Amino acid sequence: MSPRIRFRQLVDGSPLIAPSMLKCDFGNLHREVELLEAAGVRLLHLDVMDAHFVPNLSYGPMVIERMRQLTDLPFDAHLMISEPERYLDDYVSAGCDAITIHVEAVPEPSALLCRIREAGVASGLAINPGTPVEQITPFLPDCDLVLVMSVEPGFGGQKFIPSALEKLAQLKQLVSPETILSVDGGIDVATIGPCAQSGANLFVAGSSIFEAPDYREAAVQLSESASAAASSTI
Ligand code: DX5
Ligand code: ZN
Repeated sequence: MSPRIRFRQLVDGSPLIAPSMLKCDFGNLHREVELLEAAGVRLLHLDVMDAHFVPNLSYGPMVIERMRQLTDLPFDAHLMISEPERYLDDYVSAGCDAITIHVEAVPEPSALLCRIREAGVASGLAINPGTPVEQITPFLPDCDLVLVMSVEPGFGGQKFIPSALEKLAQLKQLVSPETILSVDGGIDVATIGPCAQSGANLFVAGSSIFEAPDYREAAVQLSESASAAASSTI
């Protein structure tokens, strides 16, 4: 089974909680991954930053390759980098299951999204808080995943920007039912419900998991809040 199919099969009607590894203890990566597996999470969100597209630097394919040896969990890579086309092959070989690029970095992303799919990986397109949905509408058929940033990309621990909710609702009307709708930034038990009601089904959570004393408890609470909110809209 290709990584793309495996990633798409994660969608089963229940909310997907994706811990953002930006907030993990990198000195104890093996232990962190073990704790997350024990917490029952079904995928990991990997934030790649180049100190150029965003004003922060994180990690790249070498770390992801090492992480790949620690777990079979699907990797949802979020590339906050300029010129992602130059580095795509490295992220594919490192073992990413989904690769998301930013429309602000690649204004005409069709060819690159197709390249991601041709590599057998799920294709994702992200938009920043200041970018209107209209800017990605033509490319939605090329996306397995659409990521709405609910903070300015670059740092964890920021406050959720509520205009992300309108964008999610707008996108929900535009994408196919199979397209994964993801939201990233400031997701906690208070903000996850409105995101689920607006149509999101993948929720990236950094601080709300890694700052909690018990990862399992934190992930379960997020999942329950999302499920409760999503079912109350029906
Ligand atoms: C921000 C990253 C996020 C972030 C999430 O640029 O894309 O994934 O680390 O962290 P929290 O949940 O703390 O906002
Ligand atoms: Zn992210």
